[in-house]
This record gives sequence, C-alpha cells and structure tokens, in this order.
Amino acid sequence: MSTHARLTRSLLSLLVLAGSASAKRVEVRGRQLLLDGQPFEVRGICYSPTPINASVHFAPYGDYFTADFSFIWLRDLRLIKAMGANMLRVYGWLPENDHSDFLDAVEAHGLKLMATFYMGEASESPVETEEQRGKVVRRFAEQVRQYRDHPALIIWSFGNELNGVWNGYLQQLGHNPAAPCAWDERYDDLGGCWIHKGKPPVPGSQCYNTSYCVYSRLFGLINQAAEAAKAEADVLIVSAMADVDALYEKVARAGHLAPSLDAWTAQVYRGNTFGDFFGTMSDATDKPVLLTEYGVDAYHDVCGTQATTPCYNRFGDESGSYVDEAAQADYALKLTREIQSNSSLQEHCGRAKRGSTDEDGYPNCATVGGFLMSWVDEYWKGATAQAKCAPTYDDPDFSVATCDDHAHVTCGNWNASDHDLCGYKLDAAPDGYVNEEWFGITTPTTCGDDINAIAPRDIFWQMRHHWTGAGKEPSLFGSCETTLSEKCAARELPTGLPFLPPPPPPSGGHCSLRGQCVTDHRICGPGDVNSSVTPCCACDSGFAGSTCEQLDARTYLALGAGSVLVGLLVLLAITTVVGKLFRAESAARAATELK
Ligand SMILES: *[C@@H]1O[C@H](CO)[C@@H](O)[C@H](O)[C@H]1NC(C)=O
Ligand SMILES: *[C@@H]1O[C@H](CO)[C@@H](O)[C@H](O)[C@H]1NC(C)=O
Ligand SMILES: *[C@@H]1O[C@H](CO)[C@@H](O)[C@H](O)[C@H]1NC(C)=O
Ligand SMILES: *[C@@H]1O[C@H](CO)[C@@H](O)[C@H](O)[C@H]1NC(C)=O
Ligand SMILES: *[C@@H]1O[C@H](CO)[C@@H](O)[C@H](O)[C@H]1NC(C)=O
Repeated sequence: MSTHARLTRSLLSLLVLAGSASAKRVEVRGRQLLLDGQPFEVRGICYSPTPINASVHFAPYGDYFTADFSFIWLRDLRLIKAMGANMLRVYGWLPENDHSDFLDAVEAHGLKLMATFYMGEASESPVETEEQRGKVVRRFAEQVRQYRDHPALIIWSFGNELNGVWNGYLQQLGHNPAAPCAWDERYDDLGGCWIHKGKPPVPGSQCYNTSYCVYSRLFGLINQAAEAAKAEADVLIVSAMADVDALYEKVARAGHLAPSLDAWTAQVYRGNTFGDFFGTMSDATDKPVLLTEYGVDAYHDVCGTQATTPCYNRFGDESGSYVDEAAQADYALKLTREIQSNSSLQEHCGRAKRGSTDEDGYPNCATVGGFLMSWVDEYWKGATAQAKCAPTYDDPDFSVATCDDHAHVTCGNWNASDHDLCGYKLDAAPDGYVNEEWFGITTPTTCGDDINAIAPRDIFWQMRHHWTGAGKEPSLFGSCETTLSEKCAARELPTGLPFLPPPPPPSGGHCSLRGQCVTDHRICGPGDVNSSVTPCCACDSGFAGSTCEQLDARTYLALGAGSVLVGLLVLLAITTVVGKLFRAESAARAATELK
C-alpha cells in the first residue's frame, strides 16, 4: 500500500469516526424525522392534566409535571402507552420546578416528549425591541439547557400560536416605530388584512407587502430562538402555529428566514379532513409539517346550529345536546388516517422536497405526524372562553347586547368544578361548535380533593385498535373506589400487640381503621418516578405504615419507656419494702438488746 493510499485510508476512517461521533439522536433529514437513526412518526397526545376544580390560572399554574403530582402522570402514562401513542405534548411548565421524575417516567414508559416554551400573550413576553427579543430567546435557551441530556425530551416548541393576532405578537413586531410594517390598524382584531379578505393577498398589494414584513420578522425571531436552543442541546425546534392567515403562503414567501427550524407546525381544526393543508404546505417548503394539535371535542352542542344568539342551554338539560363520543372518535380516526397516508415515514419519502409530485415518485410525504387534542377534559378552560357574555347570566347587569355571537350565557365561567359548554361557533366542527372543556380522550370524576379517576371515551378504544390492533380492555381504567382502595385499603389488621386493646373488627374500611384516607397531595407529599403517594393514609396517633397497620415508632418508644418505668417502680417498691423490713427488724433487734 502506498503512503498516499494509507493516508487516504486513515483520513477516511477519521471522517467516519467524526461522522458517528456527531450522529444526532434526533434529527430531521429531508422530510423524515429520525430518532436514533430510524424514521419516526409522531403519534402524539396533547397532555394537560388539570384536575377538576383546578385551573392553570392558579398554583400550580398547570405544572403537574413534578414529583408532587406523580399520582396524576403515573395514572396516565401507562394508559397513553396502552393506547399506542409514542409521544406527549405538554404546554407550559414552571422552569423553577424540577421535572426530572416526570421525564424519567415518560422515558420509562417508552414515550417521548415535546415541551412548549410558555410565552403567553405578547404583553407577558414582549418582543418590541431588540433587547426584549434577546431576553425571550435567552430565557428559551436556558430552559432548553435545563434538560439538555434527557433522552425523553426530543422536541421544543418556541411558544404557542405566536402568529395568532389574539396573542399580539404580530402587532408588536409590525408596529416597530423605527421601521413600521405599515400595519393596517383597522384589522388588528380581525386577523390582519389578509385573513380579513378571506384569501391570500394579491402580489404587489399593500397587504402582500405588509404581511411579508410582519411574518419575516416573526420567522426571523423564531430562527434566532432555534439557533440559540440548538447551541444548548441536541433537540428539534418548532414553533406551534395557528392555522390562519394562509400560513402556507407566508411559509412560501418568508420561510427561508427560519433555516434552523426543523419543521413547520400548525394546529389544524378544519373538520374531518385536513383539506388542502398537506398539499399547500408541501408546495411551500422542503421541510416536513408537524400537527401540534388536531381532533374535535366530544360534545354535540345545539348552540352551533341554532339561529338565535346567545345560547342558554347547559350541560344535562333538555336542549337536545349530548355527549357525542361517536363523532369524536370518527373524526380522530379519519384525520389520523390522513396523517398516515401523508406521512414521511413511508418508504418512498427519503428524497421528498418542495413540490414533490406523483411523477417524482415521492408524493404525500408532507408530515412527520401529529398530536391529538387532548388527553382529558379540562374544566378550567371556560374561564377565558372565546365567545362570552360580559357580565354573565348570573349577574344582575346581564344583557344579551354584551354577549359575543353564540356565546353561552354562563361563559366565561371561572368555576372549574363546572363542566360548562364554553367555546365558540366553528362550521368545521361536527356540530358547528367547539366546546373547549370537552376535548378529552378520557373524562374525569372527582374522588376527593386532588384525585380524579378517569374513564375512557370511545376514541380511546378506537385509536388503540387503530394504532396497536388491541381490543377493549375496560379493566385498564380504575374507578374512584379502586383508585382510593389501591392506596388506602387495609392489608392485614394487626393483632396481639402488647398493652393495647385488640383492633376493631374489619368492616371493609380503609387504612386499617386506624386512620383516614386523605386525597390532598400537600398532606401525602411527593412521589417519584415509580411511585405515587396520593391518596395516602393519615394515621391516628400511635399508628404508622402506608395503611396504618403498624405501631408508630414513637408508640414503641413510649411502650419501651413505659416498661422501663414500670420496672424501675417495681424495683423501687421492692427496695422500699425490703428497706422497711430491714429497718423494722433492726429496730426490733435494738429494742431487744436494750431490754
Ligand atoms: C374548589 O376550589 C376552591 C378554591 O379554589 C375551593 O374553595 C372549593 O371548595 C373547591 N370546591 C370543591 C368542590 O372542591
Ligand atoms: C409592495 O412592494 C413592492 C416591492 O417592494 C412595491 O413595488 C409596491 O409598490 C408595494 N406595494 C404597495 C401597495 O405599497
Ligand atoms: C393526504 O391528506 C389529504 C388531506 O390533507 C387527504 O385528502 C389525502 O387523502 C391524504 N392521503 C393521500 C395519499 O393523499
Ligand atoms: C361550581 O359548580 C359546581 C358544579 O356545577 C357547583 O356544584 C358549585 O356550587 C359551583 N360553585 C359556585 C361557587 O358557584
Ligand atoms: C424505578 O424503577 C426502576 C425499574 O424498576 C428502577 O431501576 C429505579 O431504580 C427506580 N427508581 C426509583 C427512584 O425508585
């Protein structure tokens, strides 16, 4: 072998080594998402398990992803896995909390996670100045760094619906006084000039120019965020967009300004089909699309089709509304099938790119999957419903005149114990109405302070069958009774303890009848990656153990101390008696001697 050949060879092996060392655990190549080198399709579930009577507006602010709430996610993760999903999407969590146990549990259940960097509305995370934008980007990068090595966390979303006018970001970016985008103020509340016209803007028009200006700034900001995050961790970066403003047209014109973004994303609510979504996006970009939300709610609400407004019907009344599990399941199945038939997981998709057609041999490779909305009904959502009456019906000042079109008169409803119908009219929904509190694949019931038992809707079994082939298995889900008795049931009643009356006879009670079954996590304390400790037994004094089946250590101490004390007393008594006898004898002897 010549020196030259040898050199070439060692150079080659070096290159190979370098290649494998830099191999990413997760990446987008072409239109495909590769996880540990294998093509992967997201079969995701949006996961925001806020219990009944809790709200993201109060502590813990929707952050149920800590050890304190392991009783919630340990309840859910095995069921989500059993349904055949492979990923979860979580919304905000508080960066100051530790989410390692949750992440470990996600991984241990064979699932992956997409986290959302919470930005809220533009008033909460302003982006008007360079300095403000830098601050948001730094905050994002810091959060990405926090779990940079966690194998479960593979995708981060920079914000949620940043392109929705209702969040105010487009306005702030467009209104920069130094270089305004010539934003038309009249349209601020209506979705910008382009949506107001109901179709993409005409090239050369003011609206065409304005929307390019605004979206190029938005995509530029998102790209900055993606670059900063990727410098911290080997993760994918997306930004969950609203499906508005003819998004494909903005991506086609300004998408090149976000080269570091891994996929375009949208939350698509267009009925029982994605319509032209995959086609138009596929023609607009080389990148794949990820559906960060899809699906419909499970409530058939007459409010959607009734001619009059506002709507006075309530859950459980005679209005002819009902829980429509069949429609929810049908829509989810049909949409999921569309995702799969447009999935880049398919064999031929390796080289798909912008505008790929049947003739190229790789059509329908637009998407890497989606997240089904959502795991469990969220009773808090009616608080900030889109269509509301201000004030609501129970207020003496209630007036039809101050209700939005087809608002439910009780909405916004801040009572998070109330399974209300708040939402808005949407023609694409099966019943013409979106009921925000009814998107659950499962539905909860209250079993005590923090504890909810969940029951599956049809969609659970149908999606499970679709994804795994498995049939119905109702025993997967526990009732309130089983949820409580799992933790609080007496195992074996203690018998024959010294110095104590025998325990009362068993009567099907909990906690060995020597304590209370408590459902408040603040009393029970945190669990961990494998164990939940809520509910728990709060034992009567003197007892301990997970079901109060044992004596408390302090009781043993007291008993021990008691025995010692008794011993000492006996000893003392004996000494005294003996002493007295001895003294009596001595006295007698002395008396005899004196005589
Ligand atoms: C719901 O929560 C509020 C506090 O936010 C509390 O006062 C109320 O008792 C709770 N209701 C139920 C039914 O638990
Ligand atoms: C839009 O921008 C183009 C090119 O920059 C310009 O020629 C055109 O006059 C603009 N249109 C309007 C209505 O401002
Ligand atoms: C792809 O998705 C569209 C809807 O966006 C749907 O009409 C179509 O049937 C799907 N599958 C194929 C192979 O095109
Ligand atoms: C909240 O709603 C629940 C369920 O409808 C109801 O029982 C409770 O009285 C309501 N609470 C308040 C403060 O109105
Ligand atoms: C959780 O369970 C796994 C598997 O049984 C075990 O390897 C791990 O050490 C456990 N972790 C804790 C904190 O108990």
